[in-house]
Amino acid sequence: MNVTLELVADYIANSRKIAVLTGAGTSAESGVPTFRAQGQNKSAQAPLWEKYDPSELASPSGFKRHPDLVWQWYDWRRNLVESVSPNAGHHALAALEKLYHPQPRTFTLITQNVDRLHHRAKSQNILEMHGNIVSFRCFDHGHQAGEVERSLPSPPLCNDGQCHSKLRPNVVWFGESLDSAVLDAAMAAARQCDVFIAIGTSALVQPAASLPYIAREHGAKLVEINLERTALSENVDAFLQGRSGDVLPSLVDLVKAHPRPV
Ligand code: OAD
Repeated sequence: MNVTLELVADYIANSRKIAVLTGAGTSAESGVPTFRAQGQNKSAQAPLWEKYDPSELASPSGFKRHPDLVWQWYDWRRNLVESVSPNAGHHALAALEKLYHPQPRTFTLITQNVDRLHHRAKSQNILEMHGNIVSFRCFDHGHQAGEVERSLPSPPLCNDGQCHSKLRPNVVWFGESLDSAVLDAAMAAARQCDVFIAIGTSALVQPAASLPYIAREHGAKLVEINLERTALSENVDAFLQGRSGDVLPSLVDLVKAHPRPV
């Protein structure tokens, strides 16, 4: 019997509001490389892209300087994330949300991931803090684009009226602000939850990294699921070490079996 897992199942079963923050580790078992990777996961880029500085590929100034290069990098990444599938961890989070569906219980899934795997696993209440790389808008005016062809050598142009600005992915780049409505909703979920679970994130990148601390200051139980300890681990009520694709299904099974308080 895993005592910590039992404890966390107990927190969850006794909570009314849950907030979850996911990071790249949640998608690692699907085959999407993490950012600050170690060991066998270290090659976060295909060799073709390794020679470029990420801030050059993922910034407004980089896009202005090398629009074709940036477009092709995101096209490669979009192909990668669309060729993989949600893993057992994604599915377990969607199942946990279903258990929490009837009001007044609420479940908010805050993700730093841009791969859309939580959507594909049918999670519902998702806040994408860093946007996503499978939808597009124009660079100059933010007009949202429809379906965009793959394998284009250059960014297509916006066809909203006379705009003709280049399209870019709907992702947050270095030096850009997060969508304020998304950030406000994530902060509110952190303030209001009874249990906050950080999963597969190095908990280093702001403002997402502040959310667990905001939750704790407002009285939430703090839980972390990660392969290894992080900057956050010292501060949590429960640390579950392991792969999210292993830990989350076991946790959800325990919650399902838990006698719920009225
Ligand atoms: P990181 O790459 O910084 O951290 C991944 C974390 O997942 C590490 O702590 C790993 O130990 C852990 N991990 C790896 N595999 C795991 C598994 N199978 N199960 C559980 N944990 C696992 O990724 P993030 O914290 O998501 O921003 O990075 C945050 C942001 O930094 C990203 O969203 C990205 C980047 O700059 C943007 O794209 C805007």
